[in-house]
Amino acid sequence: MVIKKICCIGAGYVGGPTCSIIAWKCPDISVHVVDISETRIKQWNSPNLPIYEPQLDEVVKECRGRNLFFSQDIETGINEADLIFISVNTPTKTFGIGKGRAADLKYVESCARKIAQIASHDKIVVEKSTVPVRAAESIIHILSANKKPGVNFQVLSNPEFLAEGTAVENLLNPDRVLIGGEQTEEGRLAVEELVSVYSHWITKDKIITMNTWSSELSKLASNAFLAQRVSSINAMSALCEATGADVSEVAMAVGQDSRIGSKFLQASVGFGGSCFQKDLLNLVYIAECLNLPEVANYWQQVTDMNVHQRTRFTKRILECLFNTVTDKVLTIFGFAFKKNTGDTRESPAIYVCSHLLEEGAHLQIYDPKVVPDQIIRDLTNVNVSNDPDRIRNLISIHSDPYEAVKGSHAIVVLTEWDEFLMYEYKDMYASMKKPAFIFDGRKFLDHDSLIKIGFQTETIGKRY
Ligand code: NAD
Ligand code: UGA
Repeated sequence: MVIKKICCIGAGYVGGPTCSIIAWKCPDISVHVVDISETRIKQWNSPNLPIYEPQLDEVVKECRGRNLFFSQDIETGINEADLIFISVNTPTKTFGIGKGRAADLKYVESCARKIAQIASHDKIVVEKSTVPVRAAESIIHILSANKKPGVNFQVLSNPEFLAEGTAVENLLNPDRVLIGGEQTEEGRLAVEELVSVYSHWITKDKIITMNTWSSELSKLASNAFLAQRVSSINAMSALCEATGADVSEVAMAVGQDSRIGSKFLQASVGFGGSCFQKDLLNLVYIAECLNLPEVANYWQQVTDMNVHQRTRFTKRILECLFNTVTDKVLTIFGFAFKKNTGDTRESPAIYVCSHLLEEGAHLQIYDPKVVPDQIIRDLTNVNVSNDPDRIRNLISIHSDPYEAVKGSHAIVVLTEWDEFLMYEYKDMYASMKKPAFIFDGRKFLDHDSLIKIGFQTETIGKRY
């Protein structure tokens, strides 16, 4: 079989960009991205894409209507495709067994059932979503129990490693593409088909193939290792604050060791994003279910340290502001979980802000990409606050950072947006209450010049 038509179920942060790049790099393949969400599909077909990713607009503009299509017509998408990516969300379960830890596979399962019900010819089904180890086994089971006679399926694991904000760059130049498949002749052939899709723009040495379970576990392992690095440097940042060491210097010295490497050692207010926490908890749950409590505890500690880091930072704000923020005005710079994305899922900003709101602070919030409604939704969510009306009265969302700072007691930086480096902090200082504080939760501003202006400057991993 030569892949001529691809369907991707799930037009989210992964499905959208991944399929746009496949369509761009494989003009001989028709790519159909389908989703149950009418709003999302409408946005993908409009000039305002549902997600912000540098360079993505240009790619979509070039391919949309040519060999890239977005629709809600899931049946047609499945029926016509030779290869189907399942790229739906796999959130942490919020109920029942494994609540708060296990991955909820209901969306993946419903895709498998739909594929079995619709497919009238052979398909390669690819797990793109991040799933627990051996999830492919359930997909195979569902497909084979429900398939039409004569239709055959091969299930592959092809986890995605893109990071938000750099999705296009990561998809064009990945460190590796990982494909897992069954160790049978049919399995190997299916793997080769997917390899041939990626080979349109990725060299063979970067396309790794292995057995399905190794591939599934490698994805969880990669995110766990990355999150562990952030928690490790954040643990060091606490030591730095207590000892007079500077965490940037420590990170530089440690990272110079080529065995350790310099990436992912930026101390921060904590990691956020839709996946690190979810995938770590998933790993912890798997280890517990396999009766490996020491392994579970080891990875649990990575997320515990993350919670500790953002709590520690918030306590520091309170302490510095003379142990009360009630009725004080605080300016929040950045609400996204990292720069160059409008995504706020698990953003440390949600936790820091809700803690400050609980203490009665008024927050003037500015983020260059997060839409105001999203900030309000995040801070009034039932899991965050049980008094949404009170919260609405305590927050104001601004589109101009200078306006957001006026009359405030402190600036709290929670996302490392480049534009925060360019501001006229002297002008901001002049419009603030004194003493004017700045809390740099990303340790990336020019602290010497802020101190010179007169700011009381506090950051992660260094005491001034
Ligand atoms: P997302 O929530 O942005 O998108 C998922 C989409 O799937 C939604 O639009 C939803 O409407 C759709 N959907 C759900 N069930 C469906 C169904 N039955 N039929 C059709 N559409 C359906 O999620 P995401 O961020 O793209 O993540 C998808 C998966 O990829 C997750 O498993 C995640 O862990 C993994 N992942 C995410 C990233 C990332 O940067 N966000 C990176 C690597 C891997
Ligand atoms: C992460 C991984 O980097 C991707 O490889 C993976 O595909 C993805 O998760 C996923 O599975 O969803 P992402 O969450 O988009 O990507 O962003 P990262 O760049 O990894 O940042 C995650 C969080 O860690 C952010 O809040 C970031 O600010 C924080 N971080 C990162 C630090 O605090 N310090 C660092 O040195 C690096």
